[in-house]
Amino acid sequence: MSQEDSFLYDSFPDGFLWGVGTSAFQIEGGTKDGGRGASIWDTFCLKSSNIIDKSNGDVTCDSYHKYEEDIKLVKELGVNFYRFSISWSRVIPDATGSGEVNPVGVQYYNNLIDGLLAVGIMPVATLYHMDLPQCIDDEGGFLNESLLIDTFTKYADVCFKEFGDRVKYWITFNEPKIIVTLSYGNGYFPPGIKSPFEGVYQAAHNLLKAHASAWHLYDTSYRNTQNGKCFISLNSAFFIPKDPNCPEDVETTELAHQFTTGWFAHPIFIDGDYPPIMKTKIGELSKKEGREKSRLPVFTEEEKRFIKGTSDFLGFNFYTSTLVSAPDNDMPPDIQYDVNILAKYTVDPSWKQMSLFFLNIVPHGLRGMMNWINKEYNSVPVFLTETGFSNSTGTTDDPDRVQFFKSYINELLKAVKLDGCNVIAFTAWTLLDNFEWVFGYTCKFGLASVDFESEEKRRTPKKSFYYYSKLIKNNGFTDISE
Ligand code: BGC
Repeated sequence: MSQEDSFLYDSFPDGFLWGVGTSAFQIEGGTKDGGRGASIWDTFCLKSSNIIDKSNGDVTCDSYHKYEEDIKLVKELGVNFYRFSISWSRVIPDATGSGEVNPVGVQYYNNLIDGLLAVGIMPVATLYHMDLPQCIDDEGGFLNESLLIDTFTKYADVCFKEFGDRVKYWITFNEPKIIVTLSYGNGYFPPGIKSPFEGVYQAAHNLLKAHASAWHLYDTSYRNTQNGKCFISLNSAFFIPKDPNCPEDVETTELAHQFTTGWFAHPIFIDGDYPPIMKTKIGELSKKEGREKSRLPVFTEEEKRFIKGTSDFLGFNFYTSTLVSAPDNDMPPDIQYDVNILAKYTVDPSWKQMSLFFLNIVPHGLRGMMNWINKEYNSVPVFLTETGFSNSTGTTDDPDRVQFFKSYINELLKAVKLDGCNVIAFTAWTLLDNFEWVFGYTCKFGLASVDFESEEKRRTPKKSFYYYSKLIKNNGFTDISE
């Protein structure tokens, strides 16, 4: 990776896919409209101290009513696809009771999908983007294995049946690691459970089975007639040894990768089971804690066979990088899942940060991450499902975001062209400034700003919107004057 500082003027392979993404709870609003049921985020926002600016997702960009404007914007951007997510509670409001399909909810997504196709944009649909129906959480959420698998599979079935004639790319879960570590580890996300040593592993275990169940359903009942793809979207920082000449740092860095990407990707893409190093380490820690059994749940042989091979691509969200070193002493007790990894995380002081303070801007990390994945998982096709930049204002004059996309996508180009990584798609996060989870409206990731004060939630493209649009038109960087 010696060419990290030079800029590569070249284009992406023909057929490379460009897109932009959003998620239902972050942009739709209309939380009480059209018979939608409650989600865990509706409930979580009721306690205003949970969200930094005491806001909520009740209206946000109002895409529930303004989806036609979103389609126009997406069209103007010139992408090949629009990645959106389906709100489970809108489609099946009473998921644990009657399980009835809500025709108004289905109609909303039909309108969106048809509107996209009418202007030549491919819909890419995520089934689950952080917004569990409240009724499922009331009965244990991701910790209730049979309920999660059963309700998620039924929900996936409804979506494949209703939309699969037109949606050819399905993402089951967005960012399993974030779901389980924030919702069941440190409790920052709803339902706010703090169980960083056990709950996280159980929730991940159940999620993997629910994912596999949905994939098998697609594979056996829909693939033949619908001819689409179904995959999961993982996420990780790129981990870099703080001292590449220190074997402990290098070893701990690998541990961090295995406990993050490997946690989900190893079962799916390698052998149906967790990475061996993860099993060993958690086994050792569990023994030290005086437990009889490992805190990491165990898959049966049948379950391993069921999980292995259940993703047509590796979906991946990528934002940042972190330096890793071996801890000097035993790690202090903390409520973070990361304690399980026994790694120390730091940043290079030269790295700039986004307004989300834990996101460091490290373009070559993307190239490094793609190479790590390519090697680890046998050149699996990677569908990048998110990369983006946050600042604190919605200003349309956003040179930092332009620079972000330019530098990250250029490093991606190097991964593809110089290193032979099998990356097939890039998705900019996100179309609109929107509800950024616990950060409310204080963090803006949009290529277009939204005037949240205005009745019509006016959308205005930023400079980065036009920059990305041009990059797509050129399929990369062919213009030396850029
Ligand atoms: C999530 C998005 C979020 C973005 C920026 C990802 O973790 O999938 O919903 O807006 O990161 O924080």
